[in-house]
Formats: sequence, structure tokens, C-alpha cells
Amino acid sequence: MSAVNIIEVAPRDGFQSVVPLIPVEAKLAMIDTLADSGLKSIEVGAFVHPKAIAQMADIEQVLTGIEHSTTLKPEYERVVLVPNERGALNAAQAPCDRLNFVFSVSETHNLKNVRKTLEQSLAELELVHKVVEANPQLSLRVSLATSFDCPFEGTVDEALCLQILQLAIKRAPCAQIALCDTTGKAHPFAVERLFDKALSITPSSTPIVFHCHDTYGLGIANVAAAYRSGARHFDSAVAGFGGCPFAPGASGNVATEDVVYFFESAGIDTGVDVSKLNRAICLAEQIEGAQLGGSIRQLNRHQL
Ligand code: COA
Ligand code: ZN
Repeated sequence: MSAVNIIEVAPRDGFQSVVPLIPVEAKLAMIDTLADSGLKSIEVGAFVHPKAIAQMADIEQVLTGIEHSTTLKPEYERVVLVPNERGALNAAQAPCDRLNFVFSVSETHNLKNVRKTLEQSLAELELVHKVVEANPQLSLRVSLATSFDCPFEGTVDEALCLQILQLAIKRAPCAQIALCDTTGKAHPFAVERLFDKALSITPSSTPIVFHCHDTYGLGIANVAAAYRSGARHFDSAVAGFGGCPFAPGASGNVATEDVVYFFESAGIDTGVDVSKLNRAICLAEQIEGAQLGGSIRQLNRHQL
């Protein structure tokens, strides 16, 4: 097992903000290539309302394609985002492994993103947890969006975030929990402080994931800060794909290849084969309407 767990999110967080619909075949080729590079957990899409995110309307075809692909052995965890019980029930009928239930620490962002108050989302979490309990093939992750900053309310209160974290663990003790810098405005010092506190109040059996965006070029510094606090699970997107349609101004996720470079150059094993990951970067560059980022990618281009 590698020393850190890199969770690839481009096929969901990255693709969701691309306007031209990406063909299912292109999505499958990307997922296949990412899996082939050694990534053990891939968020492959979302069970959301197609009017809210048109790009995710093909999630069932994507999951069926993965299941029936001859080249692709789903030896990785297939993660799908669900915003409510309805999404969880739909996902339970499909070939996937982990539900990623998302809601925001900031009430305004939550209302705009999933049309619920915090209290309603916490109640919904109980329903989603029941769906997971009734379907032993499924595991659960809870993503706390806007854990640091909200595009509408500004800086998010650290104490509020920790309180929501504890309420989430109480409702879903078996879940993995992600603290998400949705807008990419978190500062490494704030990341270190929040992760220090979060990890000190969390049972060691609860993995805490760091999800960040590279809006101000602080993505890797933030990953380093979370790592130093003890975090070992990190979301990232190949080629810095990303953004959030409900977080105006947010840029892409921290790039997977940058995270891999950062850890590997410190002698920390990621389990990812960089040359194979380069093939996924090439595929990302061919996707119409993709907004990409990342430092290694720019470097590769100059070296060609
Ligand atoms: N998938 C598909 N359809 C869904 C659904 C889901 N997960 N949840 C609800 N619906 C449908 C209902 O069946 C209903 O359909 P109808 O109009 O044909 O009768 C309709 O949506 C309204 O249901 P309601 O429960 O009132 O949902 P809503 O209008 O409050 O929408 C969400 C809530 C969460 C489903 C919607 O806002 C959404 O999908 N948001 C996406 C959030 C997201 O992915 N953000 C980016 C990632 S962080
Ligand atoms: Zn995100």
C-alpha cells in the first residue's frame, strides 16, 4: 500500500464545469487511463439532477461502460457524488463502490448548491447513511464543501466547521470525511490549523481527506500543510481540471501530477506511474472546453 492515498476527481469535479457534453467514450478512455496509472480511487461522476449539472446526466452509461469494458478491470474504488437520498438510491442500483455525499458548511452555498439548509442536509445524511447500511457493497464519504471559505459568505468559521465535522461523524461513524477548500482561497496556515484540530477530535478509524483547488497557486503548499498535520488522503484532478459551477471564480483542483511530483520527490510513495499519468494529461488536453491548470503540465509542454 502507498504512503498516501490520492483520490482522482477529474471525471466529476473537473468534467462537471465543461460546457460541451463530453462523449461517454472519452470519459471512459480517461477513467481507464487514470486507473492504469495506478490511482486506486476515482470519482467517476455524480447522481444529480441533469438540469443542475447536464454533464453528469450520463452517469449510468459511464458506470455500465466501466463494468463492461474489456480493457478496464475496476480494481479501483468507483466513487460517485450524491447530493441527496434520491441520488443514493439511484447509485445503489448501479455498479459503484462509494457514495460521496456532499453538503456545505456555509448555509448560503448549501442552499445554492443542493437547495437545503444545513439542518436539512444533516437529516439527509442520516437517510443516505441508511442506504449505505442497506447495501453492503457500498461505502460512504461525506464531503464538507466550503470548509474554509464561501464564495458568498467569505471566511468560514473554524469552530463551525469542526462542529459540522463532529455532527457528520455522529450520523455516519463509518464514513470517510473530506474537508474541502471549494474556492481555493485557503491559506496553508489555516489548513494546518484546521487539520490539526480536526484530526485531534476524530477517531483514528475515520480517514480525513483534503480536497483543494489551486486558485491562488497555493494548492501544493496546502497539501503539504495538511500532510504535516497528519492527513494522508488527498483529492486531486489530472491536468488541474476543475472548478465548481456553484462557486464562482474557483479554478481547477490541485493537479494530480503536481501532487504526485511533490510526494515522490520527498520519497513518499504514491503508487502512481508518472509516465502513464502523462497519457491522461494528453487526453485532458484533447477535451473540448476543458479549463486546465497545473505546473508540471506547462513544464512538459516546454520540454517537448
Ligand atoms: N438525481 C436526479 N434527479 C433528482 C435527484 C437526483 N439526485 N434529486 C431530486 N431529483 C429530481 C426529483 O425527482 C424531482 O424531479 P421532477 O421535477 O421530475 O419531479 C426534481 O429533481 C426536484 O426534486 P427536489 O427534491 O425538490 O430537488 P431540488 O429541486 O431541490 O434539487 C438537487 C436538489 C440536489 C437534486 C439538485 O439541486 C442537484 O442535483 N444539484 C447538483 C449539485 C451538484 O452536483 N453540485 C456540484 C458538486 S458540489
Ligand atoms: Zn471541488
